[in-house]
Amino acid sequence: MCGIIGYAGNRNAQEVLIHGLKELEYRGYDSSGIALKNNKKTQIIKSIGKISDLENKINNSKIIDSNLGIAHTRWATHGAVNAKNAHPHNVGKVTIVHNGIIENASVLRDKLINKGITFKSETDSEVIAGLINYYYKDDPYKAIEKAISELKGSYALGIIFSDINKLFAVRCESPLILGVGNHEYFIASDIGAILKYTKDYVLLGKNEIISIDNNGYSITLNGENVNRQVLKSNLNDESVSKKGYDHYMMKEIMEEPILIHNFIKKYINHLNKLPNIKKYKHFHIIGCGSAYYAGLIGKYLFEEDGIDALVEIASEYRYRNIKYDKNTLVIVISQSGETADTIAAMRMANENNVDTLAIVNVDGSTIARESKYKILIEAGREIAVATTKAFMLQVLVFSLLSYKINKDDTYLNDLKKLPSLLKILLDKTGYYKKIADQVYKHEDVFFIGRKIDYAISLEGSLKLKEISYIHSEAYQAGELKHGTISLINNGTVVFGILTDNSIYDKTLSNLEEVISRGANPIYISNVDADYENKIIIPKINKKLEPLLAVPPLQLIAYFVAVKRDCNIDKPKNLAKSVTVE
Ligand code: F6R
Repeated sequence: MCGIIGYAGNRNAQEVLIHGLKELEYRGYDSSGIALKNNKKTQIIKSIGKISDLENKINNSKIIDSNLGIAHTRWATHGAVNAKNAHPHNVGKVTIVHNGIIENASVLRDKLINKGITFKSETDSEVIAGLINYYYKDDPYKAIEKAISELKGSYALGIIFSDINKLFAVRCESPLILGVGNHEYFIASDIGAILKYTKDYVLLGKNEIISIDNNGYSITLNGENVNRQVLKSNLNDESVSKKGYDHYMMKEIMEEPILIHNFIKKYINHLNKLPNIKKYKHFHIIGCGSAYYAGLIGKYLFEEDGIDALVEIASEYRYRNIKYDKNTLVIVISQSGETADTIAAMRMANENNVDTLAIVNVDGSTIARESKYKILIEAGREIAVATTKAFMLQVLVFSLLSYKINKDDTYLNDLKKLPSLLKILLDKTGYYKKIADQVYKHEDVFFIGRKIDYAISLEGSLKLKEISYIHSEAYQAGELKHGTISLINNGTVVFGILTDNSIYDKTLSNLEEVISRGANPIYISNVDADYENKIIIPKINKKLEPLLAVPPLQLIAYFVAVKRDCNIDKPKNLAKSVTVE
């Protein structure tokens, strides 16, 4: 949550920072701000709302010329959404932007208030500015070191001092990279913010302090120089374009067939590149939100191969008393690789010396770096807050692991057919719009399915509620009549997911039960049936059916949100990367 960007070089800092903020806006978008520095002058401008609101404010202000500055886009944790709580925060000579949460902020705040320091905001972040300023006499490194030694929690900080023409940064738990250009240097929460200028970056270790100006950069830890390799990102600066689509979400859904094709092609004849999971006896599959649902699908696929797995939401798992056995593999799933709870769950496994396997999109992220093994899903940048293509590739990893176990020829044929079948399904946008027309006026929607179809229901339901703000619930089809069926009224929309033919009749009966009580069914199956609203997906190996059933649900959610005029790529209250617990 929250995005930070900093720049020191020869360009107009304001332009670089605003561009970076737009790229980082998916991380939080309730308010934003910028601090520009020119010699001893530091100018701070903040605004609530979108980056475009900040931009308007800047355009209507007299802005100093500057080649050095820091900026921030906020997802509120401590303190309401208002301009006072927006970053950057300034105390005395120190101005900072912060991503993370300081757990002992109130203790530190009281300590500083007792020393006569006053605060303007309710944030934990301003306390950091106060602390660094308190310790700053003439050595910025000492001041930062002393201040961070008192912080408990997570932080990525961009720091400027009014009397030094350099930008400083430091991180612990929260992500931050150093971008290396030609006589220009950047700090950013995410490489996407700087791809327009450079693909070269450096990953920073915990509490290493970096300082940059247009002459170069230095990295130090406890006063000693640290050498870190300069890496090259393989991402493109594709962010400026939605490739003709109205929203990133639509563009990202439409990328699914080609990404799936590429991924299958990469691994199908090189199964040795996938870990040998047969050597483990116990499996824990961990994630949050959609990543957890991908894991739930994975659990059902494993079950078909005779493998039992525990699948758990990371924020629960991390606080359980898990008994580990050395034959356990903990699989953590995360698009961003920065989800705080998933990181904590992975670390718990690492600390217990059991093997961890990350299914992750962002290379260089904390999860990609700290897991013992990793499979990069190579979905490219996913900008829409609601995950679509990354979810599909997370599921595909389990499909390929399953193929590696059973090496079944018919399964292989179906795997190869998958991208073209998916493409045909995605092309039916007109039909999904018609279904969306029937859904968008409702305030309560249900999804029902059994086993793997229940996992698909969960994902379909989450997609719909998070971007359209329609209340939606997914239920195990057999469970509905134990209470929830009392919510079914005349016209209530119920999506029935019936891809698993082994329990088709059972789910069908449950669908009929809700129809008898007035529900308006939307039937999704590989078996044609006499329903007015139906999506018939091709019949392939049942382990691959989720990869055909989920995309129509993604598109229906999308079109419902369009009809309701929602902020599709940036739904309210959400952020793409949940870096706080
Ligand atoms: C839903 C969604 C979230 C994420 C979850 C985990 O559309 O995007 O539920 O799946 O926040 O995020 P990652 O995969 O980055 O760990």
